Amino acid sequence: MDTRLLTAEPDDMRLAADIIGAGGLVAFPTETVYGLGGDAMNPMAASLIYEAKGRPADNPLIVHIADLQQASELAESLPLSFYALAERFWPGPLTMVVPKKPCVPDATTGGLPTVALRMPDHPTALELIRLAATPIAAPSANISGRPSPTRWEHVRDDLAGRIDAIIASGPSAGGIESTVLDLTGPDPVILRPGLIGPQDIERVLDRPVRYDPALADTEERHGAPKAPGMKYRHYAPSADMIVFRGEPEATVQAIEQRREREQKAGRKVGVLVYSGTENRLIAREFFSGLREMDETGVDLILAAAVSEEDPIGFSIMNRMLKAAGYRIEEVGV
Ligand code: TXA
Ligand code: MG
Repeated sequence: MDTRLLTAEPDDMRLAADIIGAGGLVAFPTETVYGLGGDAMNPMAASLIYEAKGRPADNPLIVHIADLQQASELAESLPLSFYALAERFWPGPLTMVVPKKPCVPDATTGGLPTVALRMPDHPTALELIRLAATPIAAPSANISGRPSPTRWEHVRDDLAGRIDAIIASGPSAGGIESTVLDLTGPDPVILRPGLIGPQDIERVLDRPVRYDPALADTEERHGAPKAPGMKYRHYAPSADMIVFRGEPEATVQAIEQRREREQKAGRKVGVLVYSGTENRLIAREFFSGLREMDETGVDLILAAAVSEEDPIGFSIMNRMLKAAGYRIEEVGV
């Protein structure tokens, strides 16, 4: 299949919407990462998404909408908390899980009775949804297991020849995927950490918001998470990867020592250290950093942990530890 490269100009957007309408797949920019879109109401399109990504079919897709009317067409019921959070954070990097109506195909939700809804904060994404006149199911536009794409070139590298089109735009501003919040239980639970943290949500709802305990960061403590996507090895570069965690200076020293040792043993080593950089900027560059490491052909990536005190740092570490397959060296303990 030839993958067309499109712009956000009107003719191209019309074409992209027609492709979605015909059951095809179009990758498009969002404020978090690039998404691989298909008609959320068409089970065949959902199957094509799984096939193009090589994604397990029990890992449900996020459904992207452009207005609240679409949410009520897809959800069996919407709690007041949904409206309060939509008012505060949409369009934006928050995905809310709610009970689905029967019209939402099982292929889209991986057989779950719930549907994950998100209104992306990107003019091109919103326009595509409006022009296609249907909600758009879109996982991150990478081959399953690879780092999420934050530039259209990443999408091309992974999916050229496997999808109908890519709408090329600038780099994603956020850089990590949306916060996934489950609203189906008695209390809201964060299933996937993202740029919007528990306290941001608590401030709106005026009640406690927890992280899913399965998000605890070691493999042993890593139970069966409720967001089915969280159980697979994810975000992984081809190279082996080890995360070093401890006091900043000691950590850099430990990484240097390890690098020397590995290089003497003939390995090609890449180092990811972000000291002095704000977590928001690290989030933006994290996935592309992993991809660049692979492009330079390193065998081993040595990465310094970032501070987990704020929700963005926690979200970065969630991705970093998964990318490393939970290989951590605690420095100075
Ligand atoms: O920022 C994002 O969310 C990006 C952009 C493209 O919007 N999309 C994205 O989709 O990251 P994906 O498919 O790579 O990740 C979706 C996550 C998975 O962890 C999945 O298991 C979870 O959301 N999810 C989707 N539907 C769910 C549901 N009904 N219940 C629980 N978790 C769900
Ligand atoms: Mg993904």
